[in-house]
Amino acid sequence: MNKVVLITGASQGIGFGIAEKFHAEGWDVLTLSRKPLTGDETWNPTADSHFIFDLEDAEHIDDVLAEIKYKLGNRPLDALVNNAGISPKLPNGDRVGVVGADYDFWKRIFDVNVFAPALLTRGLHPALKAAQGAVVNITSIVVQRVHPFAGSPYASSKAALGGLTREMANEFAKDGIRVNAVSPGEIDTPILSIKTAEIVESHVPMKRLGSPAEIADAVYYLCSDQASYITGAELLVNGGQHL
Ligand SMILES: NC(=O)c1ccc[n+]([C@@H]2O[C@H](COP(=O)([O-])OP(=O)(O)OC[C@H]3O[C@@H](n4cnc5c(N)ncnc54)[C@H](OP(=O)(O)O)[C@@H]3O)[C@@H](O)[C@H]2O)c1
Repeated sequence: MNKVVLITGASQGIGFGIAEKFHAEGWDVLTLSRKPLTGDETWNPTADSHFIFDLEDAEHIDDVLAEIKYKLGNRPLDALVNNAGISPKLPNGDRVGVVGADYDFWKRIFDVNVFAPALLTRGLHPALKAAQGAVVNITSIVVQRVHPFAGSPYASSKAALGGLTREMANEFAKDGIRVNAVSPGEIDTPILSIKTAEIVESHVPMKRLGSPAEIADAVYYLCSDQASYITGAELLVNGGQHL
């Protein structure tokens, strides 16, 4: 039987690239996001493998967990990729600092970027344990350094997701579940700021954007048997941007 992965935020960008990679490697791919999913020439998902849910509604996450568990039936879950994330900016593309962010702004970001990954992993823990599976959280270069466009609430949420990765790796090691993170730099997706081109030149030693496929390769590696002794790691995929 094929292995199964659940990927959040796979309707576009990095998540779509991760879904294409797992599909190409012969895995069954389940996805979750707010919009319906449209495939392309390499991957045509079926409607019943996509769960429509707004992760800002973390309070009601048990509703979508029930749907996912129903779909899985008795099948173990080999991998969970917590990829969905939001990085709201000001209309001119500038970052939002502490002074510019009220409680609702912080809560929205933490619901999607931190609480949803924790609660999804919690709900799917039995299926992941049954598979001796892997979790990969998508963090960000903002964990390693202050970023000119990503705001303080976003950076804080990704640092929290890095901490959550460490805590879950420690907690779940006894269950045979490995938990790691992939930290992208500037990857060519719609989340980028209109000013990204400026910092690729000044901040990225390799002087180019990364592609969703390059993040997908790292995520796939961490979910594969080739990474069987790796847990609690954060793999930086950023063309040297942290240096
Ligand atoms: N691109 C980069 O340079 C970069 C750098 C560092 C880190 N990252 C991280 O990588 C991950 C993917 O980023 P990306 O660049 O691919 O972003 P993106 O193109 O904006 O895609 C974000 C994905 O998340 C989903 N999503 C957003 N809000 C959601 C919500 N409330 N509930 C459910 N799904 C939601 C979106 O789908 P729907 O609209 O259908 O809901 C979409 O599929 C994020 O965690 C981001 O923080 C990206």
